[in-house]
Amino acid sequence: LGAGPLAGRRIVVTSGPTHEPIDPVRYIANRSSGAQGTALARALMALGAQVVFVTGPASVPPPEGVDLVRVETAREMLAAVEAALPADAAVCAAAVADWHVANAADRKMKKDGSGRAPVLDFAENPDILARIARRAEDRPRLVVGFAAETHDVVAHAEAKRARKGCDWIVANDVSPATGIMGGAENEVTLITASGAETWPRLSKDEVAQRLARRIAEALA
Ligand code: C5P
Repeated sequence: LGAGPLAGRRIVVTSGPTHEPIDPVRYIANRSSGAQGTALARALMALGAQVVFVTGPASVPPPEGVDLVRVETAREMLAAVEAALPADAAVCAAAVADWHVANAADRKMKKDGSGRAPVLDFAENPDILARIARRAEDRPRLVVGFAAETHDVVAHAEAKRARKGCDWIVANDVSPATGIMGGAENEVTLITASGAETWPRLSKDEVAQRLARRIAEALA
């Protein structure tokens, strides 16, 4: 058994993108390396937590030592997170596609020579963060979401926290001028019930370590 302030705690982390099939060979996805979710899982384990790591097809390898659950779609990710409950905390770091293709084909779509392009029908995906935060039963004591914003970061993140019913939002400014998108560093504002706290520019690993320490304090 691990030692550390999170020993005995079970924490679900979502990470990476989701892939929403168009047909067996094509999909729709968000850009996400899974780097921040992976760093966070590592930092939580370093403090002793048992981490259930529910990941879409990320480009960085999953951390060693987690309970690994690989998924493709948002609907699979929701089912995997629900199956992982009860847990002490849930941290939703995945970049979940907002929609899936409702008329996905079960065979590869072919050009039919007419010059007409296929029409995709989209249906909304479940909001995993909101669903977990609003559970009547088995709601983790701490539910944390992320928000990538390009302007009015704090106002938008506070609104998101209220709308989704989660406890904390980790907001970051991803406007092109910051160079954060795809970079190794992150500059975040932590939004909690008691207000907004802006952290200095840190590596994604340092953001993960700070956040893990805060999670340990909150669950203490
Ligand atoms: O609404 P928005 O996508 O900006 O919210 C981002 C937060 O919500 C992230 O924590 C993300 O993991 C989570 N989310 C989710 N399921 C969705 C969409 C977003 O869990 N379908």
